[in-house]
Amino acid sequence: MCGIFGYTGEKTSPSLFISGLSRLEYRGYDSCGLAAILNGKVFLKKRSGKIHQLKKDLRKNRNIKIPICILHTRWATHGSPNKVNAHPHTDCKKEIAIVHNGIIENYLQLKNELIKKGHKFISQTDTEVIAHLIENFYNDSSKTEITLEKAVLKAVKKLKGSFSLGVISKKDPEKLIAVRKGSPLIIGIGKNRSFLASDIPALLAFVSKVIYLGDEEIAILVKEKIKVINFKGEEIRPEIEDVKIKLEEADKRGLEHFMLKEIFEQPKVIRKIFSSYHPAEGFNFPELRFSKDYLKELDKIYITACGTAYHAGYVAKYFLEKYCGLDVEIDVSSEFRYRRLNLKKDSLVIAISQSGETADTLASVREAKTKGAKILSLCNVMGSSLVKESDSVIFTLAGPEISVASTKTYTAQVFCLYLFSLFLGKLKKSLSEETIGRILKELEKIPFYQEEILKESWKVRKIANRFSRFGSFLFLGRGINYPSALEGALKLKEISYIPAEGYPAGEMKHGPIALIDEYRAIVCIALKDELHEKMISNMQEAKARKGKILALINDNDDQASSLSHNVIYIPQVLNQDLSPLLVAVCLQLFAYFVAKKRKCEIDQPRNLAKSVTVE
Ligand code: G6P
Repeated sequence: MCGIFGYTGEKTSPSLFISGLSRLEYRGYDSCGLAAILNGKVFLKKRSGKIHQLKKDLRKNRNIKIPICILHTRWATHGSPNKVNAHPHTDCKKEIAIVHNGIIENYLQLKNELIKKGHKFISQTDTEVIAHLIENFYNDSSKTEITLEKAVLKAVKKLKGSFSLGVISKKDPEKLIAVRKGSPLIIGIGKNRSFLASDIPALLAFVSKVIYLGDEEIAILVKEKIKVINFKGEEIRPEIEDVKIKLEEADKRGLEHFMLKEIFEQPKVIRKIFSSYHPAEGFNFPELRFSKDYLKELDKIYITACGTAYHAGYVAKYFLEKYCGLDVEIDVSSEFRYRRLNLKKDSLVIAISQSGETADTLASVREAKTKGAKILSLCNVMGSSLVKESDSVIFTLAGPEISVASTKTYTAQVFCLYLFSLFLGKLKKSLSEETIGRILKELEKIPFYQEEILKESWKVRKIANRFSRFGSFLFLGRGINYPSALEGALKLKEISYIPAEGYPAGEMKHGPIALIDEYRAIVCIALKDELHEKMISNMQEAKARKGKILALINDNDDQASSLSHNVIYIPQVLNQDLSPLLVAVCLQLFAYFVAKKRKCEIDQPRNLAKSVTVE
């Protein structure tokens, strides 16, 4: 939520900074802005709305070249998304400018104290308080020789909440200060220049080496010189890491939307996961640091996650229970963290998160750790807070996901957990070698089945166009495809804004059936599995009430076909436990084409942000 970009180095045209910031637009797009030190003053440009507006404004200053600056794209929390509330924010004298990602919990108290001291505020944001607080320490007349970093250090010690910051000041015009507490921030190391950004894609065009700033750390950047201190003011030696992602991976490659590109990348991602974690023989999870004895003894697992990641965990619950004989409890993180869970020392909590920065998931992990639980995270972002705070990690290896609606990271999470469950089943001897071998063979075929679906995406498009006129949807599934129904409904509502509900089909008669009439579209996942007959009965009930049924079925299913207005064929896997990996692709395409037909902003749906770093 909110993207930060910063630069210090040779004087450069603003278009470079705009291109960096644009790669963070997935984090929020309510307003944007830039602050630079130019001719001894703070130069400020802010806009409500998206970055292309700022780009237009800056064209009027075509000839300016900027040596140091900070930029921001905002997902509004405090104060409406207008120009005044847009970042960067400044102090009273407009000498200090700051950008912020996160939330300052005690901003009201600090604001009141600063107002009493004579500070003048112009916005409704929590962020502005930081600029005034730095000003307060910077101008403290009793300390004649205070530097910008010292003033920042004093200010951040007063702040409660999570924040990453970029700070510049006309009084220390060469320094770009970066602060991280709870929200991500990465330093890009260039030749005669340095950058800062909330996420790697913004840096890919400029650097090949980065520093993932640690929690409670401050970096002072002067061109290529980088000094890192902690909140105690002690200098620390940061770890410099190679950037492992290629620029092309964060590009649309000529496609209209990132979402479509990411849907089509799924077979490639699944192949990569398979070959990485199941090379030739056996399993290999390099960051899984638990002892075999510990894993063998497990009898219960807790899963915590939000949004799409929660649905991935929900699918996993079914096969972890079935293959490993475990009890699996799953909760959305915003509930998990407040439940009185009976977590004990060494209980295993699996935290799933694409970004590794979701505030509720991080809070759940921290809560679980206070009780002595061990954390295994499934995460797509190296260097993220979740990765740093976990005992073990399975990276989902999906590459950068830019579209706000998750697609490839969902199937990547589910696929990684399938492999993990087989590994665990082997250790616990709850699965025979033969069964593991059989499931692995089917898992290896998943990318081919997904390719079959993708080749026929035009068929899904035709059906989606027809269904795009419906004002509401019910997604029904059973067993392991009940979470698929939840995810299908989530995808549709996220990007097309059509009210959509996912439900376990058997539960329909206890409420949702009252909603069914000829104006309601019902998406039924009716594959030939052990619950097929039950699903057919539920479809009959829906049809009898004139619901318009779109069914996802396997070949030669005349029964399901005859009850449906339209069908989409899903390749038949020998082991239907793996079918969520195919159903997901289909429902992602469906949501995409419905949203496209309705001319929605697919990659950046209203009110959403990809990385939700507030609670
Ligand atoms: C937001 C995004 C969802 C995502 C969820 C969890 O709500 O819009 O697409 O599933 O956060 O994000 P995470 O990074 O923890 O997987």
